[in-house]
Amino acid sequence: MSERKKVTLPVLFDKVAKGDPITWLTCYDYPTAYFQEQAGIDMILVGDSLGMTMLGYDSTLPVTMNDMIRHTQAVRRGAPHVFLIGDMPYMSYQPSNETAVLNAGRFMAEAGCDAIKLEGGREMAERIAAISAAGIPAFGHLGLTPQSASALGGFRLQGKSALQAQKIIEDAKILEEAGAVGVLLELVPDRVCQIITDRAENCIIMSLGSGPDAHGQLLIYHDLFGLYPKFTPRMAKVYGNAGEVILNGLQQYVAEVQGKQFPEPKNYFGMKEEEYAELLKLLG
Ligand code: KIV
Repeated sequence: MSERKKVTLPVLFDKVAKGDPITWLTCYDYPTAYFQEQAGIDMILVGDSLGMTMLGYDSTLPVTMNDMIRHTQAVRRGAPHVFLIGDMPYMSYQPSNETAVLNAGRFMAEAGCDAIKLEGGREMAERIAAISAAGIPAFGHLGLTPQSASALGGFRLQGKSALQAQKIIEDAKILEEAGAVGVLLELVPDRVCQIITDRAENCIIMSLGSGPDAHGQLLIYHDLFGLYPKFTPRMAKVYGNAGEVILNGLQQYVAEVQGKQFPEPKNYFGMKEEEYAELLKLLG
């Protein structure tokens, strides 16, 4: 494995200052984390999207802190040098500042995270401030926030009207002032993303389906490789159809076992003649 230097907050802010785009992907398991580390990804989000991509739920809401910790630990083992962000699952931070700090602390202490992310605007500024005051770097998440998909009317573009866009722009500044080291903008119009990025002073602005004018880009790993069977969102780019490769391989395996073409001699081990003869003697 080629050695990489640890990606830290100063490394990320240096990229922002130089105008070098930051690369960010979701990841939920050890082998994928290993490949992402090798590919030079800067940041990994262990998203609560794992509820859908890995656990087969219809939404992210059933995901627990224990689910998140287990997957985040595996990712950290595969990617020791990336900047690792744990995604606070539903109801792990909404009830109180204390709940939020305790659960954010679990990501740091039990899973080796570098930061956490939570969803919400001005109403979550207090949580961001409390987590930051505990010494834990916090990312905000605005626009389409999947934990509130029901209240937002589904998985759709946010901030289309001037009034909605103004609120998102204000929320980004409020989160920055509360101490957020970064804000993810999911599915907001590109111009809204550009305004927020231009106005950010000490905050990393990341885009998921919000256009090129952020400090970097995030995609859901499963969308890059056709690994989520239910749908691929328009904002994703498919870089290879691993889902198709896997399905073809599985169908071939089934056919070869059924047709007695697998296994071939190279896929199993024999025994020396004399040992076999001895064995038959022992067995009577
Ligand atoms: O859980 C997740 O992967 C996320 C992304 C949708 C940003 O929060």
